[in-house]
Amino acid sequence: MTSTNSSNTDKELDSAKNAVFLQSNSADLQGKPEIRGYDFNQGLNYEKLFESYKTTGFQASGLADAIKEINRMISWRLSDEPLKEDEQDDDPEERKQTRCKIFLGYTSNLVSSGVREIIKYLVQHSMVDVIVTTAGGVEEDFIKCLAPTFLGEFSLNGADLRRKGLNRIGNLLVPNDNYCKFEDWILPILDKMVEEQTTEKTLWTPSKVINRLGKEINNEDSIYYWAWKNDIPVFCPALTDGSIGDMMYFHSYKTPGLVVDLIGDIRAINNHAAYAKHTGIIILGGGVIKHHICNANLFRNGADYAVYINTGQEFDGSDSGARPDEAVSWGKIKIDAKPVKIYCEASIVFPIIVAETFVKHFQKKEPKKPQTFKLF
Ligand SMILES: NC(=O)c1ccc[n+]([C@@H]2O[C@H](COP(=O)([O-])OP(=O)(O)OC[C@H]3O[C@@H](n4cnc5c(N)ncnc54)[C@H](O)[C@@H]3O)[C@@H](O)[C@H]2O)c1
Repeated sequence: MTSTNSSNTDKELDSAKNAVFLQSNSADLQGKPEIRGYDFNQGLNYEKLFESYKTTGFQASGLADAIKEINRMISWRLSDEPLKEDEQDDDPEERKQTRCKIFLGYTSNLVSSGVREIIKYLVQHSMVDVIVTTAGGVEEDFIKCLAPTFLGEFSLNGADLRRKGLNRIGNLLVPNDNYCKFEDWILPILDKMVEEQTTEKTLWTPSKVINRLGKEINNEDSIYYWAWKNDIPVFCPALTDGSIGDMMYFHSYKTPGLVVDLIGDIRAINNHAAYAKHTGIIILGGGVIKHHICNANLFRNGADYAVYINTGQEFDGSDSGARPDEAVSWGKIKIDAKPVKIYCEASIVFPIIVAETFVKHFQKKEPKKPQTFKLF
């Protein structure tokens, strides 16, 4: 090897070394948490396990961020904010009582699944203020009060199931008979609605229909029973896109004339957002429910807190897949908000989120009763 050759090799080695051992700018890492997962040698502590998600990375860190964001929604009080010019005469006690208005949205399949019971808990204890769902998310709740849904498998054959009168939603099975029971239950109520429309001049909107059905079901297992009881509005702009629409179709031949007004509900939901002091949005899934909640929040120049949980991706330009930042561009989430999106199937994470947020706050409010010991 000549000396020129060897000095060329040295230069190449130096440049390779510089590339491989490029110096880090550690100033950019100041304050950033170190990645570290849970150590089961500490014993099994679910609270600590979920805490460790923050420093686990990927969607686990997203879950921890969502828990933090929802805890901020729950803890916020108007009294935390400086008094604005037009608020100087506000009653301080009332400001302490004024909470963030929480909008909850969920797709129909979540009511078909066991997430229904988690949602019911939230509504039963008035932990959310405004609900948006799709038609299946309304009817499946009532149908479950009449007959159960079963666990099947994703792989069950469609033609076999059809012959047996079993309908599949993912890996859930709903017997077709359940819809017959739903028909028997709802048709007389629709009759009464037509009658009240004529005699009492009731102008039905989807939210009024759901409220009335919640009253009629009179069953504590139902989300909408509690929504009626606790006066929590449930919006469903596409109320006819499900079995409830099939029932309204048949009913319109039997007893024509039922009118369901959409405008009344768009005024109601937009005003809920426009007149709230602060809003937080929790959206499970995408489609109509996601857009309807975000769009209402445009009327206040954006929600203050936002958590999305869905499997949608943004590369196709869909609203379902759009990240919160797209809603910021439209004025549907505030510019200074810290919104979170978790890319995950909601039935896995939502129960954990509720346990780490609403349930904990509720337990703090309701101190445990002193234990009594029975000696004999
Ligand atoms: N049980 C049912 O699913 C059912 C029953 C009757 C009618 N329908 C009707 O079907 C229509 C479409 O349903 P939809 O608008 O409720 O939503 P959808 O099922 O079409 O879902 C919309 C998007 O939400 C996301 N998503 C859905 N499920 C998710 C989950 N478990 N975890 C995370 N992300 C999830 C996905 O990105 C999906 O593309 C509605 O009009 C509804 O009334 C549905």
